[in-house]
Amino acid sequence: MTIQSPWTRSRPLFIQAPMEDVTDTVFRQMLLHTAPPDIFFTEFTNVEGVFSEGGANVVHRLQHTEAEKPLIAQIWGHKPENYYNGAQYAKKHGFAGVDINMGCPKKEVINKGLCAAMIDNHDQARKVIEATIRGASDGGDVIPVSVKTRLGVKSVTIDSWIPFLLSFDIAAITLHGRTAKEMSKVPAHWDLIAKAVRMRNRLKPSVVMIGNGDVSDRKDGLEKIRVYNVDGVMIGRGLLENIYAFDVDPTRNERLTISEKAFLLLKHLDIFEATWNHQDAFQKKAYTLKKYYKIYINSFDGASDLRTSLMAANSLVETRAILSKYVSR
Ligand SMILES: Cc1cc2nc3c(=O)[nH]c(=O)nc-3n(C[C@H](O)[C@H](O)[C@H](O)COP(=O)(O)O)c2cc1C
Repeated sequence: MTIQSPWTRSRPLFIQAPMEDVTDTVFRQMLLHTAPPDIFFTEFTNVEGVFSEGGANVVHRLQHTEAEKPLIAQIWGHKPENYYNGAQYAKKHGFAGVDINMGCPKKEVINKGLCAAMIDNHDQARKVIEATIRGASDGGDVIPVSVKTRLGVKSVTIDSWIPFLLSFDIAAITLHGRTAKEMSKVPAHWDLIAKAVRMRNRLKPSVVMIGNGDVSDRKDGLEKIRVYNVDGVMIGRGLLENIYAFDVDPTRNERLTISEKAFLLLKHLDIFEATWNHQDAFQKKAYTLKKYYKIYINSFDGASDLRTSLMAANSLVETRAILSKYVSR
């Protein structure tokens, strides 16, 4: 049986980008509370890690609630058999799909031939995609497989890479409009994303093509969808600037009162506590938690001072006490 694929949802699609140490279950629940996307993604999760002895330190990346739907598990790693296992795991744990990371540009990852490096190593990419498709299909339900990738490693190679990807039974490609070498340092090349869409139209129109790179919010996304003909857009850093980026009125963020902003962060703290329900969660995850403060506490006189005092707080109790002064009753 094939479960309802998130990629068949009505277009255009607005998708939350996977972001390590950001798009965990807590943040996704905040998006449900504010302005949810059509499709959620997990952070990228290493398939060697999940199935190793220290798996507990990795598998939290796949933790989710029933409400975060549809949710796609993004995986990366080395051995094809682990991709197979990763896809099987995703299927058993209620994910709506599994996505292969072929875009991460980190040097230490590329040097090992992983993630974006596979753009230049079609043999390895083939093994990984085929193993993932088998894992997503063997036994019971079938979940769709997608690939998130870039324009190339050192130079643009979409002329060979996109047709190669389209030769597999994948549901979607998300194309980040930069090479790995470009990291995020130059504006995304949307003209090249449009070129990839034209290849898709010619070679395999059934594969969904999502554009990614510098989309600030839904309004900007709608414009890029119109101009570049993608089926949807994926938004990453835009969410760090605007938690309402997916809202039909993304300017909603600009009208939030200080009290509403403080309330949103309090809500985030509540979900954080309910999710990582152990006493030292704050100490262990303070670094990650504190990264979110700027998303909520910004753009008003005194925001920077408030963030400074929040950063200095040593417990959830202390953090809440600081914030509660800003919430009007
Ligand atoms: C903090 C951070 C973490 C990221 N982690 C991932 C990841 O786990 N998997 C992935 O495919 N891309 C990751 N990316 C890349 C984003 O998904 C996205 O492709 C990139 O930021 C460009 O989109 P944007 O301009 O909308 O941010 C990350 C980006 C950022 C800023």
